[in-house]
Amino acid sequence: VRHILLIGMGPGHPDQITLQAIEAMRSADVFFIPAKGEEKAELAEARLAMLERHLRDRPAQTVGYAMPVRNQATADYGERVRDWHDAIADIFADLFREHIGDAGRGAFLVWGDPSLYDSTIRILDAVRAGGEIAFTYEVIPGVTSVQALAAAHGIALNTVGNPVHVTTARRLKEEFPDNADSVVVMLDGGTAFAELGRDDLDIFWGAYLGTKDEILVAGRLAEVSADIQRIRAEARDRKGWMFDTYLLRKR
Ligand SMILES: C[S@@+](CC[C@H](N)C(=O)[O-])C[C@H]1O[C@@H](n2cnc3c(N)ncnc32)[C@H](O)[C@@H]1O
Repeated sequence: VRHILLIGMGPGHPDQITLQAIEAMRSADVFFIPAKGEEKAELAEARLAMLERHLRDRPAQTVGYAMPVRNQATADYGERVRDWHDAIADIFADLFREHIGDAGRGAFLVWGDPSLYDSTIRILDAVRAGGEIAFTYEVIPGVTSVQALAAAHGIALNTVGNPVHVTTARRLKEEFPDNADSVVVMLDGGTAFAELGRDDLDIFWGAYLGTKDEILVAGRLAEVSADIQRIRAEARDRKGWMFDTYLLRKR
């Protein structure tokens, strides 16, 4: 039966990958590389660089596929994401049928770790539930952008004995979580931290973590917020895209 490897590839640095992931990469027959839409060209390049570096003399077969885009006309967020996942599931089923032999091994290099704000596992479950194609899959963990953020700033995520809340900018804007003194924010298309209007927070901000363009800013939110907004806008203009993660910590 076909086997799919979901390989956590870390948040961008070619060294931030486990030996288990490299072994898994070396055992794969074909890699599926998302090429368009939500995926930025640089992220596809980062995947190819990973293959080049770690596969060495065994050239990999790679198959690019276009990521469908979410239909913004669908008002309900849950429905919009479900429709999007269904469209990707159809693409995956076709890829597996066309490019993996009966006992072959296909692989996805999943950004960071597959367990954190990534839908690949859910989509594979949907493909399997569709029943049209039989396969097994396994997950190889990777370094998350959250770990890369903490390491780059040289901090622990939690204060002693206290919880950490990981959330999205969309949810942060709805309500600031009051169940933790440490809040990690991901998937911020803008600058949600600047709209909080609080002066009891520190921020540890990181963009393009692990890459040559990494930017770090830390300080009292009220004091560094304007700097981060300016640096973020400049970097975004320069590169054409932005990936940032930050920790907000109650003082
Ligand atoms: C779809 S999520 C994927 C997260 C990924 N699975 C992980 O383990 O980090 C994308 C978000 O992860 C964060 N992210 C991923 N890579 C990053 C990086 N190199 N630097 C900063 N943030 C990153 C950003 O918040 C971005 O909006």
